[in-house]
Amino acid sequence: MTEQPTQNGPSTTLDVLILAAGLGTRMKSRLAKVLHKIGGRPIIAHVCRAAALLEPRRTYVVVGHQADDVRAAVEKELGSQRASFVNQSEQRGTGDAVLAARRALANATSTLLILSGDVPLVRAETLRALIDKYHADKASCAILTVRLENPTGYGRVVRDEAGNFLRIVEQKDATEDELQVREINAGIYCFDGAKLFQALERVRPTNSQGEYYLTDVPGILRDDGEQVTLYQHHDAREVSGVNTRAELAEFENLLRRGAVRRLLMDGGVTFIDPAHVYVSSEAQVGRDCVIHPDVHIEGRSIIGEGCEIYHGARITDSRLGNRVTVKDHCVIVDSEIADDCAVGPFAHLRMNARMEERAVVGNFVEVKKSQIGRGTKSMHLTYLGDATIGENTNIGAGTVTCNYDGQHKHPTVIGSNVRIGSDTMLIAPVQVGDGAVTAAGSVVTEDVPPNTLVAGVPARIKKKLTEEPK
Ligand code: UD1
Ligand code: CA
Repeated sequence: MTEQPTQNGPSTTLDVLILAAGLGTRMKSRLAKVLHKIGGRPIIAHVCRAAALLEPRRTYVVVGHQADDVRAAVEKELGSQRASFVNQSEQRGTGDAVLAARRALANATSTLLILSGDVPLVRAETLRALIDKYHADKASCAILTVRLENPTGYGRVVRDEAGNFLRIVEQKDATEDELQVREINAGIYCFDGAKLFQALERVRPTNSQGEYYLTDVPGILRDDGEQVTLYQHHDAREVSGVNTRAELAEFENLLRRGAVRRLLMDGGVTFIDPAHVYVSSEAQVGRDCVIHPDVHIEGRSIIGEGCEIYHGARITDSRLGNRVTVKDHCVIVDSEIADDCAVGPFAHLRMNARMEERAVVGNFVEVKKSQIGRGTKSMHLTYLGDATIGENTNIGAGTVTCNYDGQHKHPTVIGSNVRIGSDTMLIAPVQVGDGAVTAAGSVVTEDVPPNTLVAGVPARIKKKLTEEPK
């Protein structure tokens, strides 16, 4: 036998190979299985993240079905410099998928961790434990296994009387006796790269599915007198693949409950009905927040302390300060809301909408790519797009920034202490100076000087205002 890897030698270099070429027929979808999302991210992204935490030299991904989209999902998660892609044009089995990566891995005198692209809940700690066992047992192959009440569909791990590994047998090729085995192959392995490929050359598709099984390799290695070791994990769910829509829903639920539990236990957050909120595992919610039912907090949202988020709000990749109130049925995407603001009900903030301290946006108000200054209020039925608004200004009901001329978007700038009358149309580009007032129904086509009242269609100057408007 050749020398086994040592803890510090170059042969302990870790590479990761993720198999993600399959379509996943049981999903009954046009979308490749690994692109289905849980927790708002593709399944493959979860797997990549766990792998990245091991800090491998390189991560290789075997792609086939919807290769471009799978590649994009991996690159988004890892950054392109850390992943290499291998194409498997025809899906002839997991063994063939690994063989497709042979050329890319040719110089990899490494420990190779192989996992499926469809195990989104697997934790880096578990993968690390498998790798540690591989090294501790001086093995050529370590297989992650779990015991299942119902092992139907999985490859069974067959041991000899002494409990040592014999081989893996797939469900469709198993005898009656083998089908009774409850210990299954999770599809996560650690291999000596060189020995893996030597054995893989000898795998033949002489099985009921006519496929090249990666699962034949450990048996071949064992028959060669190599050490094949088993690492039995306790948490079956964590290392299971998603194969059906039912499992997709179940995993989504597990992930969501995990995030809510974390906030309930350690975060000091009140959930009126924890079973009916959706919190991304990447989101942060501050102490003493109260979250009502049917709220979605998605992506990397950060919510400060003491906020109250009412029924049916969706907050995606946004940041809220402290003591912010979000009333029922608001949609807040890629936006930022400072301390003591209030939003909604039925408000829509998007594309970098920003509210400064104590600003208020009321019902049926849409704010796109706009900044609303401190203490400014826009309470009803309004569209603010590409607008910059100063402090303590009031925007009347039915105000519209007419920012689009059919070809281009134009900015609107409104100063501080302004009163925009109800139903004012602001034809952008346009500016309204500090302390100005527009009368109800004005159509403002030209800039309004500071401390001036305008009215009419198109709006004309009516008088200079001496006092500060209240
Ligand atoms: C595989 C194992 C089985 C194990 C189970 C655990 C084999 C032969 N069987 O079965 O022992 O219990 O996983 O979940 O390996 N893939 C490719 N190219 C292919 C075929 C598959 O890239 O030609 C990818 C798939 O996209 C998937 C992974 O390999 O991510 C596993 O393939 P899948 O068809 O799900 O294998 P199972 O039948 O579940
Ligand atoms: Ca599978």
